[in-house]
Amino acid sequence: MSISTVAVIGGGTMGNGIAHVCAQQGCTVYLIEVNQGLLDRGLGTITKNLDRQVSKGKLSEEDKAATLGRLHGSLKLEDVAKADIIIEAIVESEAVKKDLFGKIDALAKPEAILASNTSTISITQIAAATKRANKFIGMHFMNPVPMMQLVEIIRGLATDDATHAATVKFAEALGKTPITVNDFPGFVSNRILMPMINEAVYCLMEGVGEAEAIDGVMKLGMNHPMGPLALADLIGLDVCLAIMEVLHRDLGDSKYRPCPLLKKYVAAGYLGRKNGRGFYNYAS
Ligand code: NAI
Repeated sequence: MSISTVAVIGGGTMGNGIAHVCAQQGCTVYLIEVNQGLLDRGLGTITKNLDRQVSKGKLSEEDKAATLGRLHGSLKLEDVAKADIIIEAIVESEAVKKDLFGKIDALAKPEAILASNTSTISITQIAAATKRANKFIGMHFMNPVPMMQLVEIIRGLATDDATHAATVKFAEALGKTPITVNDFPGFVSNRILMPMINEAVYCLMEGVGEAEAIDGVMKLGMNHPMGPLALADLIGLDVCLAIMEVLHRDLGDSKYRPCPLLKKYVAAGYLGRKNGRGFYNYAS
């Protein structure tokens, strides 16, 4: 099937980036949020990021206007009925995602693909909350979505070949490079990345180094473009903790236990860049 209309659920860090890229590549996009304030924030971020592309000479004013013309903010989940693919990017909670997909399943066109941008929750388990597990797939975009090349495609147990092929083609049409993996906790990306970030937090907690020193070692010594603690702030500390909890619970190995300092920061409301305070302070 060809995909021309997309519904993106959740306009936060990931959802606004996914909506941005889909609209820029020519799709009609419905960005669905829970309230007007959050919707305005998501749409505002897209406009700001498009402006940055224009100022860098990477996008014309006409293309920016056309992109915004294809983008529709919405507070109505019913708008998923217009979409060929529905991409969910809401809070990283299995129960909340299952509840949402149960509703989406009842509203979406029978042929529509349902995709989750989950970082780590089992695609097979979320798919089981719908009556179309064969049309359910993981589409794991990377942050920041407009800049990052990879989309990790995750096949659930029941995902059929047609759904997989259409999703791969769609990711390519967005200008991304899809890589397909199977459904295991954390997939490939977060199975490897998140234990490294968690270990960096242990280094901070145990006083092995200050945040700047830990990040500096990994940037200069390992050629990482960003240190693990700065990356955790970009991802969101709540998202990092949720991923470690899934790895710990579902793989059952103590090597995945979330660092107590990560838990403490999340409990204190230090969520990273999105609210101005994480391992670094972003308040101006
Ligand atoms: P976020 O907290 O920045 O945004 C989530 C948004 O979803 C919020 O604006 C919230 O209002 C909205 N939302 C919640 N329930 C909703 C509902 N029922 N209907 C419509 N909107 C709803 O979270 P973020 O970081 O964008 O993460 C979203 C998903 O993407 C999570 O599953 C996360 O694991 C995954 N992810 C996150 C990455 C990151 O670097 N932050 C990277 C890749 C995947």
